[in-house]
Amino acid sequence: MPLTPVLTKRWLSPQSWSLRSYEELDGYTALRKALTVAPGELVTLVKDSGLRGRGGAGFPTGLKWSFIPQGDTGAGAKPKYLVVNADEGEPGTCKDLPLMMADPHSLIEGVIISSFAINANFAVIYVRGEAVHALRRVQSAVHEAYQAGYLGTDILGSGYDLEVVVHAGAGAYICGEETALLDSLEGYRGQPRLKPPFPAVAGLYGSPTVINNVETLCSVPYIVLGGAQWWKSMGTEKSSGPKIFSLSGRVEKPGQYEAPMGTTLRELLDLAGGVREGHELKFWTPGGSSTPYFTAEHIDVPLDFDEVAAAGSMLGTTALMIFDETDCIVKATLRFTKFYAHESCGKCTPCREGTYWMVQILQRLVDGEGTAEDLETLLDTCDNILGRSFCALGDGATSPITSSIQYFRDDYIALLPEHERAKLTVGAAQ
Ligand SMILES: Cc1cc2nc3c(=O)[nH]c(=O)nc-3n(C[C@H](O)[C@H](O)[C@H](O)COP(=O)(O)O)c2cc1C
Ligand code: SF4
Repeated sequence: MPLTPVLTKRWLSPQSWSLRSYEELDGYTALRKALTVAPGELVTLVKDSGLRGRGGAGFPTGLKWSFIPQGDTGAGAKPKYLVVNADEGEPGTCKDLPLMMADPHSLIEGVIISSFAINANFAVIYVRGEAVHALRRVQSAVHEAYQAGYLGTDILGSGYDLEVVVHAGAGAYICGEETALLDSLEGYRGQPRLKPPFPAVAGLYGSPTVINNVETLCSVPYIVLGGAQWWKSMGTEKSSGPKIFSLSGRVEKPGQYEAPMGTTLRELLDLAGGVREGHELKFWTPGGSSTPYFTAEHIDVPLDFDEVAAAGSMLGTTALMIFDETDCIVKATLRFTKFYAHESCGKCTPCREGTYWMVQILQRLVDGEGTAEDLETLLDTCDNILGRSFCALGDGATSPITSSIQYFRDDYIALLPEHERAKLTVGAAQ
């Protein structure tokens, strides 16, 4: 069936990032419509559309917005803020940066409508520090939007004011975690905050704050124009709408593929030319390195939040990293674990110590110097991290290890020196 792009529909247009191109292709028409509607109705519309956050956790967007106190707008009321999470640091994830590069105005339009919906007059776009190209692109689009009267005071004569600041992070994966992001924005070291209070109650500078992912906010103008039912006509019952899937690794044509939620890896591989010629799919991540691996057996799992969870992983950021039979899963897992050890912010002991030790064990396994006890030690360490860490980075660090041992235990055992492998055989026979 031919796919009709929504989120990526402008990507191949000439100068797609310019205001002129954007306006020629329906740009800012959703904003004109939204400004004639009561903010509360926009919240209801987004709730009805079933849109779920695209930053990884899949939290219902309209519901998140509804936590911001609506009537509380008089003198003395706390300001409300919208913060855009454009940190995109999860290994394999590559959708927000392309969105910002190809179509930055769709993000800005989404930001204005969403800020209007939650009665915010100030929004921040927090862009990953290393992504200087995306930072510049968004900065210049914000400048264009100010010049055209889409930002600033009395937007399009509606009486609504919005200031938008583009902020560069300093390049830390943990600053994508929403509360660490807020600390970083406030000038502190980026480390997660204790929740509750949740950001909707006490977020940026202690004020009610909505934090949304880039792709989430880019979806909003389409919902305003097309309506909730149209949005729900794509995807699955509990995961509505289109989604950008990033395919990387051992695939013929890696890249971003937009498809409805619930599309399977088999269908996405058809679009991407399949696994590289002459090779077979061995394992893959459905949503980035912090989501448990899937195997070739999972090729027909519908990629939506609930189906992926039911099959034992997480949809995460729909970052599909594809590995074939030439790839060593223990090496891949070591690589991911090194990343988590490096990015652990050090605030809590299970993650700070556990990720360090997991790297040591995986390294000696890869070097052929592992011991018969190493697998159990790895699993025990994961057990002490999962659910016992301060934030989800720690939990995510355990996913590659536990799932690789679950599906490919023999690959680990094959790396053991013979005398250590023999101990396992003796142990199993007793
Ligand atoms: C370690 C860590 C890193 C994260 N990085 C990002 C990120 O780069 N971008 C993002 O949108 N969400 C990231 N998240 C999820 C955010 O905390 C948050 O759930 C999300 O921004 C909410 O937006 P959404 O509701 O639109 O999905 C991360 C979470 C964790 C635990
Ligand atoms: S789990 Fe890791 S990243 Fe999260 S607070 Fe603890 S040490 Fe920091």
